[in-house]
Amino acid sequence: MGATELTSNRSLAIHRLLLNIYEQSMLFLPQRQLGEGDMAIFRAFYDAQSVALGQSLRANIEKAAFASLDEEIQISGPWNSDRLEDYLVGTITKYEQEPSGLMARIDAMRDPARAMKYLLIQQASDFLSEASAMARAIPGNYGPVQSELMKVFIDEYGYGIHDKKHSTLFEHCCTSAGLSPEAHTYYFHYLPSSLALTNYFHYICSNKHLWFRYIGALYYTEASIPHFNKAMSQSLKRAFGNKVNTAYFDEHVHIDKHHRRMVLDSIIKPTIEMHGTQVIPEILLGFESFRLLQDRADQDYLAQVAFIEKLEQQRGHGFHADAATYEPLEAESLTFNEPKGELSFSHIHDDDELFSVTQGALEFFAGPEPIVLEAGSSVVIPAGRLHGTRVISEACTYRVQKVRLRK
Ligand SMILES: [Fe+2]
Ligand SMILES: [Fe+2]
Ligand SMILES: [Fe+2]
Repeated sequence: MGATELTSNRSLAIHRLLLNIYEQSMLFLPQRQLGEGDMAIFRAFYDAQSVALGQSLRANIEKAAFASLDEEIQISGPWNSDRLEDYLVGTITKYEQEPSGLMARIDAMRDPARAMKYLLIQQASDFLSEASAMARAIPGNYGPVQSELMKVFIDEYGYGIHDKKHSTLFEHCCTSAGLSPEAHTYYFHYLPSSLALTNYFHYICSNKHLWFRYIGALYYTEASIPHFNKAMSQSLKRAFGNKVNTAYFDEHVHIDKHHRRMVLDSIIKPTIEMHGTQVIPEILLGFESFRLLQDRADQDYLAQVAFIEKLEQQRGHGFHADAATYEPLEAESLTFNEPKGELSFSHIHDDDELFSVTQGALEFFAGPEPIVLEAGSSVVIPAGRLHGTRVISEACTYRVQKVRLRK
């Protein structure tokens, strides 16, 4: 998937489905009493027939999600262990010489706290079950490297102390920022590109022939985290003040400096020595694929936050889409009439859309805090932006029309 395909509704559907398929093979339980309804949901999610169906579809869905990365990223030239090390370390050193571009953009926003909350929501798809994909990479028998990987894994799980487990640290951060720490509370707010980051690790850890890619992607994530998390911790404090718990990010600044050394010296280099230089292109493919996905996720996040900010700006001035800026793409428009409570789950369009409420009122959401659109209000939903609605009046009529920017 290229950048545009990654932010499409098709991609959203693919990555939601994939996440569910992967997570049917790991256990999630809320940390509270289970009600009758909870038991039914629990049984349904882990239903054996549904699990079997997901597994039968998995390879094709993975192909739709990730096969194009192999075409986009070309690895050429002769490689040896030293050259690989120079390249990997050099790429990360260059990355660390620049201040985090993402954090600089967030700091400059009208409401950095809102933007940071939205970033924590995107990270929650992964961090609230941190290293679960990695757990899939551990079983088997593949020599000393297996035990080295286990050492990294033990740290991720807080060496058996629940309060030190990385997902627990992230729960504390969420709570302190006013977010729910329960996994997937914000499921419908995950951007497709955020889901792609989580799914990519499940993909390379589930498919054993992609093992060498896994260690390349693992190096990218461990090595880039100290620099990013340092900036993230500082921006969180700037946005929320001292009440925010940044232990998750501070811990990673420390531990991932060890992890990146462990992954390079005790996993990647011994792997090449043991199995030969032919595995290097695969290691590089994993490193570059995850780097590209991360970069695209940052762009997708920034575009979504810009959309959320624009809606918030319009809140004070009434929602009147700028008709002079847009023109209809097609003559027809679609009109919907929906009853109270009707929910349009979050989705994405391929074209810009003019969305106008003509009767009643609804909540429109692009992020976790909805805005209310009443009769006479209209907004433009840019292509690629996640959004949904919920009717709050007895009935609501609204019209959607494909538009484009006037030339
Ligand atoms: Fe971690
Ligand atoms: Fe780590
Ligand atoms: Fe829509």
